[in-house]
Amino acid sequence: MSRVWNEQLKRWTTYPYDLPDHYDFQWSAVFNINRCIACQTCTMACKSTWTFGKGQEHMWWNNVSTKPYGDHPRGFDAKLLSMLPKGKTIFEAAPEGERVLGYIPDDIEYDYPNAFEDSPCGPHIGAGQYQEIDVSKSKTQDKQWFFYLQRICNHCKKPACLAACPRKAIYKRKEDGIVLIDQERCRGYKKCIMACPYKKTFYNTFTKTSQKCIGCYPRIEQGETTRCIAACIGKIRLLGNIEDEKSPIHYLVHKAKVALPLYPQFGTEPQIYYIPPRWVNTKFLAMMFGNYDESKIKHAVKTYMNARHDIELLAVLQLFGTTQQIIGSYEIIDRGNPKEAKVRAFDLKGQELFVVSIYPKVEVHLTKDEQLNITDAKQLASLDIRRDANTPWRNQY
Ligand code: SF4
Ligand code: SF4
Ligand code: SF4
Ligand code: F3S
Repeated sequence: MSRVWNEQLKRWTTYPYDLPDHYDFQWSAVFNINRCIACQTCTMACKSTWTFGKGQEHMWWNNVSTKPYGDHPRGFDAKLLSMLPKGKTIFEAAPEGERVLGYIPDDIEYDYPNAFEDSPCGPHIGAGQYQEIDVSKSKTQDKQWFFYLQRICNHCKKPACLAACPRKAIYKRKEDGIVLIDQERCRGYKKCIMACPYKKTFYNTFTKTSQKCIGCYPRIEQGETTRCIAACIGKIRLLGNIEDEKSPIHYLVHKAKVALPLYPQFGTEPQIYYIPPRWVNTKFLAMMFGNYDESKIKHAVKTYMNARHDIELLAVLQLFGTTQQIIGSYEIIDRGNPKEAKVRAFDLKGQELFVVSIYPKVEVHLTKDEQLNITDAKQLASLDIRRDANTPWRNQY
């Protein structure tokens, strides 16, 4: 075991190999949970590109599930959290004779990948009733909530899959930090499946090897984003090099601290960072994204909610979903003039990609609601239509 620095936990930990702390380019991405609509376009973009072959039918290298109840394999995070002593990483808590603490899910746990989609958490309400929200106590958190969690391999800096493989079939590329399984070396020992805390390696019963997200490396080598990111309808995903201070990813994670890693307490230093949902119980989010530290969640949510007053954050948020090229850096033009302020994006070679307004112009087109006889938006917003169960048009939708 080597003694290694974990940047996300800000402490020294152990890892079976002496991997570098720094890569010139580390593949990483930010996913903005607040904007995901669970359309699964990302899921199908990956499936139709990489996992349509024999033996891959059950593989979802990208999946989007509803938290807190849904996931694939079912309950993978709750199960590992219940096994992991608090304050220890999965490497530090490894049982005698193993390098990593983990488990292999049963086949049934992989069934029904969409189970609990859109299932909320919170006090139950009767049919036809609306939930009362006490806005005086909290303007951002409802009693009842769910959110979508977009999951792919995290191309971890301390990959548990790599640590566990007895064949040394898994490697992390020096040029971009992408973690790959060598299909020639793999003998199907499944230790990687046992070890990956995110359960993002899958066994192929036809090739008798394990397979996982390849970070779309052929596209990365051309300076392009991944398929799941390029196809995202909600424009919630942005890919880049977290090690480069000029990168928008570096800004979101290290400067604004608005994007946080998923279950950093596992100790693998995952490289997908999430902008947490603003309407969800802070304690729950702290367990998932803050290593139980609620102040990290409060800071991220407050910063995100304040984006309209923070020109750099707003500028970087405009970069999501704008191009298939990887954005290497950006600059803000006319910073002092909000009406004209723009952000200019550059590719990894410093070539200009595009210029976009930071404060997009919003035009409101009003149409008359014939049934309510309303033409004024403020009047419409002030109507307490939720309480009136007899409103005739309500039943039309
Ligand atoms: Fe969410 Fe984008 Fe995937 Fe749709 S394509 S489910 S918006 S991450
Ligand atoms: Fe390996 Fe899992 Fe990390 Fe991906 S998410 S690099 S499969 S440990
Ligand atoms: Fe699939 Fe590529 Fe996205 Fe990985 S990065 S989940 S291989 S589309
Ligand atoms: Fe190693 Fe996993 Fe193959 S443990 S041998 S990469 S199935």
